[in-house]
Amino acid sequence: MALAVEINQLSKEFATPFRRKKILAVKGVSLSIAEGEIYGLIGPNGSGKSTTMKALLGLLAPSEGTCQIFGKDSVKVDSRNDVGYVPENPYFYKHLTGEETLRFYGKLCGLSGRKLKERISELLSLVSLEHARKQKVGTYSKGMLQRIGLAQALIHEPRLLILDEPTAGVDPVGSREIRDLILSLKEVGKTVFLCSHLLEQVQEICDRVGIIFNGVLKREGTLDELITMKERLELVATGSPDAQRKLLELAEEMEGIELVSSGAPKTSLESLFIQMSQEEK
Ligand SMILES: Nc1ncnc2c1ncn2[C@@H]1O[C@H](COP(=O)(O)OP(=O)(O)O)[C@@H](O)[C@H]1O
Ligand SMILES: [Mg+2]
Repeated sequence: MALAVEINQLSKEFATPFRRKKILAVKGVSLSIAEGEIYGLIGPNGSGKSTTMKALLGLLAPSEGTCQIFGKDSVKVDSRNDVGYVPENPYFYKHLTGEETLRFYGKLCGLSGRKLKERISELLSLVSLEHARKQKVGTYSKGMLQRIGLAQALIHEPRLLILDEPTAGVDPVGSREIRDLILSLKEVGKTVFLCSHLLEQVQEICDRVGIIFNGVLKREGTLDELITMKERLELVATGSPDAQRKLLELAEEMEGIELVSSGAPKTSLESLFIQMSQEEK
């Protein structure tokens, strides 16, 4: 399959005006994303995620290395035709409604008339903001702002979406909506490159994950490759307390097996929170 993204030995240095030392924000990062994949770049604050994305978008010039989008070098303007970008804190004109915001960006992309109107309705429905279509963006919640940002990034029907911390600062229910939306984008064949410091969310939606620390890509792989503990076996069983005890005894006695842990499994706090808030509705 065609590569949507190819980053080759990317380094980015920032000069700091009041210090003699330069900041090496990204050091020799190479990664590629196949068309149709959801790729998650995870790492702590300041590890170089946003810088990598900005270089890929052609918003920052690499100090070394190259970035390509669908085979076109990011320094070339036409590499941007096929990309939609939602920055970490998307900024919108507060006095425009959701609908007006999309109309504004649609016109910038050369859409007009009936085509624009249809596209706006389609996008508002995709991001579940029809109810807030006439509401001023200044009154939107953080989750709604991210969603209108996604709609704006999709207006020219790009094949690749770059999302910088799409769920940072959004509550769990809002995050879940954004995650579902990202998954539905994958279903229609879009490629998504997102970064986050919220690990659980990346785990739930990404096909492949890169882990970056201090500008260096430390590990990369499919989720299974990264998190499967191959030397371990986990069984989840139901049964009477008596039967459960017998199963445990069996495991303890078995040759070549070392029982590492046992007990009732726990759900995640996040799943519990989401389940409870659905019951509240
Ligand atoms: N425009 C800039 N000028 C100087 N330093 C910067 C600039 N942008 C980012 N940095 C520095 O580069 C490093 C990586 O930043 P960034 O890519 O924003 O990290 P992340 O997105 O992973 O939180 C940080 O140390 C940050 O302070
Ligand atoms: Mg960042």
